[in-house]
Amino acid sequence: MSDAYSGRGNKDRSVTKEGGATMTPGPQHGKARPAPGGPFLIGESMTGGYGNGPDILHECTIAVDKGEIAVIVGPNGAGKSTGMKALFGMLNVRSGSVRLDGEDITDLSPQDRVKKGMGFVPQTHNIFTSMSVEENLEMGAFIRTDDIRPTMEQVYELFPILKEKRYQAAGELSGGQRQQVAVGRALMTQPKVLMLDEPTAGVSPIVMDELFDRIIEVARTGLPVLMVEQNARQALEIADKGYVLVQGANAHTGTGKELLADPEVRQSFLGG
Ligand SMILES: Nc1ncnc2c1ncn2[C@@H]1O[C@H](COP(=O)(O)OP(=O)(O)O)[C@@H](O)[C@H]1O
Ligand SMILES: [Mg+2]
Repeated sequence: MSDAYSGRGNKDRSVTKEGGATMTPGPQHGKARPAPGGPFLIGESMTGGYGNGPDILHECTIAVDKGEIAVIVGPNGAGKSTGMKALFGMLNVRSGSVRLDGEDITDLSPQDRVKKGMGFVPQTHNIFTSMSVEENLEMGAFIRTDDIRPTMEQVYELFPILKEKRYQAAGELSGGQRQQVAVGRALMTQPKVLMLDEPTAGVSPIVMDELFDRIIEVARTGLPVLMVEQNARQALEIADKGYVLVQGANAHTGTGKELLADPEVRQSFLGG
């Protein structure tokens, strides 16, 4: 593993669960291989809102397949975070369904979805600021009863700065480092799919590039990644699949390349 960072792509897949995502060799990265019975994770035609409030999502469909990075973009308030919460079971989905690896999980609690292999990093409050970095990672592994040290070492190899700062309170870290803690915490459950809501929020362009590189590295281990990003152009550049949401509905869907080339998407969402 010593030269794991010499190029893009962490070849070690042990942060992912056996029997979960499969390794897609580098050259084939980006080719979606639909699982039998549909994408690995899909929220299909989801309609719903918060509590008894109005619907925020309108027949919204979001999916990610094995070996893919899928990206959700769209204006503020479009329902990107709401879509992620719907997939994770934090929303009242009035119609539509959520399926993971072919299984209907629409009625499962978030905690049960974690047990099924979903790792979710919410947009806000995604770390315990008063706890140390290492305690955050330990908290991430709360559902596990086996030895978590090897996974923790994996996280430290992916994010070496976290090892250096492992006894420091997470709240004392920089924005980019906190996001690494949040992602690392989600990886501690050895998820089969990783969901990230704005993992680069509030960080500098250089740190953003670095975080994207790490996310690509994680995806290359075979772990499907679904993320919301406000840096639409950069995110679509690394996306196998992209979703543009507007007012809680799918406005444009395609490969990252297709969306980047779409004149309407460019004009309305990418600043021309
Ligand atoms: N907890 C909540 N309760 C009620 N309405 C909410 C809540 N969170 C978000 N909303 C509303 O849902 C809509 C979509 O918000 P959100 O999903 O956060 O958008 P985005 O992530 O695309 O910026 C907005 O109108 C917002 O006001
Ligand atoms: Mg949001």
